[in-house]
Amino acid sequence: MRIEPAAALRGHIAVPGDKSISHRAVLLGAVGEGETAVRGFGRSGDTEATIAAVRALGVTVHEDDVDSLRIEGVGLRGLREPDVPLDCGNSGTTMRLLPGILAGQQGRFELTGDESLRRRPVNRIAEPLAQMGARVASEDGKPPLTVEGGELRGIRYEPPVASAQVKSCVLLAGLFAAGRTTVVEPLPTRDHTELMLETAGVKVTRQQRRVSVGPPEALRLGEVVVPGDFSAAAPFVVAATLLPGSELTIHDVGLNPRRIGLLDVLARMGARITIFHRHRDGGEPVGDLEVRSAELTATAVTASEVPLLVDELPLFALAAACARGESTVWGAEELRVKETDRIETVTNSLKALGVRVTPRDDGFWVRGVPTRPKGGRMASHGDHRIAMLGAVAGLVSGKGVDVEDAEAVAVSFPGFFELLDSVTQR
Ligand code: S3P
Repeated sequence: MRIEPAAALRGHIAVPGDKSISHRAVLLGAVGEGETAVRGFGRSGDTEATIAAVRALGVTVHEDDVDSLRIEGVGLRGLREPDVPLDCGNSGTTMRLLPGILAGQQGRFELTGDESLRRRPVNRIAEPLAQMGARVASEDGKPPLTVEGGELRGIRYEPPVASAQVKSCVLLAGLFAAGRTTVVEPLPTRDHTELMLETAGVKVTRQQRRVSVGPPEALRLGEVVVPGDFSAAAPFVVAATLLPGSELTIHDVGLNPRRIGLLDVLARMGARITIFHRHRDGGEPVGDLEVRSAELTATAVTASEVPLLVDELPLFALAAACARGESTVWGAEELRVKETDRIETVTNSLKALGVRVTPRDDGFWVRGVPTRPKGGRMASHGDHRIAMLGAVAGLVSGKGVDVEDAEAVAVSFPGFFELLDSVTQR
C-alpha cells in the first residue's frame, strides 16, 4: 500500500467500537442470563475470533447489523466443550481472557492461534489459574493452551507485569471461585472488565491498584453501548496534530482515563486537542475529540505512564520524530511481547523512513527534528498497529511511504484506509 504525503486532515469522523470493550461484551454476554444486546460493536479480525470462539462453545450470537449483536447467554456455567480447538487467530485478548471463564466450566478446552499469537506468552495467565485450582497446560509457556475447569478457590494475586489481560483473566475466574479473588497490579491498567462486571451486577471492590470480586449468582448485562476505540482514533489524532492546517473532530470516542495516556503526553508536547460532549455509556467515559495541528517539543514517557498508552507507543515514536528535541520511552519491555516485538518493529520501520531512533531493552530513544521524515518503504510484519503507524508516517513524510502487509489493519480496524482517505487533503 502506497501512502502519499498529505497537506492536512479535515472533517468529522467516527471510529469503530472499542476492541477491548467489544471482546468483553461478547465474553460476558455469553455467560450472562438472557439476551445481551451490543450496539457499536467494533467488528474486526480480533473481535470476530471471540464471536467464533463463543459460538464453538455453544452460544448463539445474532449479527443483526455490522455493529449490532445479540448474544443469547447460556448462564455462568453453561458453556460446552467443543470438538475442535478454539482458534483465537491473532487476538491476545481472546487467548488471555477466555481461559478465565473456561476455568469455571466442565470440560477440557484447547485454545490456539496464528503464528504470531503462538509466539506470545500465556504462562502469565496459566500460573494464577493453576493457583486457583484449574488444570492448565501450554507449550513452554506459549499456546496452544489447554484448560480443564474444576472447583476454583479465590486467591490474592500480584501479577509480575502490568497487564489488563492478566488482571481480567484472574477476575473472570474469580466469578467461579469460592471466596474472594483479589488482583494487586504493579501499575493501574485499563479497567473495562471491572466496569462491565459492575454493570452486570457483580460487586467489585476497587482501589487504585487493587480489585476484588466474589462469585455472583448471575451476570445481567442487558445492553452494552460500545464507545469508539481510542486506539483506533489515535492514528488520526497524531496525523492531525502533525499536518499543518488540520482540523479534525472524532466523535464518541471512549475516554477511559486508563486508555488516554497519549492525550496527556501529546498535551505536554504542545498538542491542541479539546474534548467536547463528555458523557458516560455503561460506566465508560465518552466524548468528542477536536484536534488541530501544533508544533511539538520532545518529552520523556515514564514507566508508570506506559500502561496508559501501551498500544499508542508506536505512534508516540512518530510524534517524537517530528518534535523538537530528544524523546525517550522506558519501562516499556511489554512492547516486546505484543503482536510483534514492537521495540524492534517500531525502531526498524522508522529508521527505514529516515528517523533517528535507537532501541533500548525497555523502550526507545528518538532524536526529533521538526521537519517531515523522508519516507521510503517499511513492513508491518502483520502487526496492525505497525501498519497504521506506516500510514500516518506516509502522510507526514516528504516523499510518501510504501507499507508492506498493510492489510494487517483489519485485525482491529478493517475500514482504516478508507476512513483516512475520506479526511485527507492533498
Ligand atoms: C488489552 C490489554 C493490553 C493491550 C491489548 C488489549 C485488553 O494488553 O495491549 O491490546 O483488552 O485487556 P496487556 O494486558 O498485555 O497489556
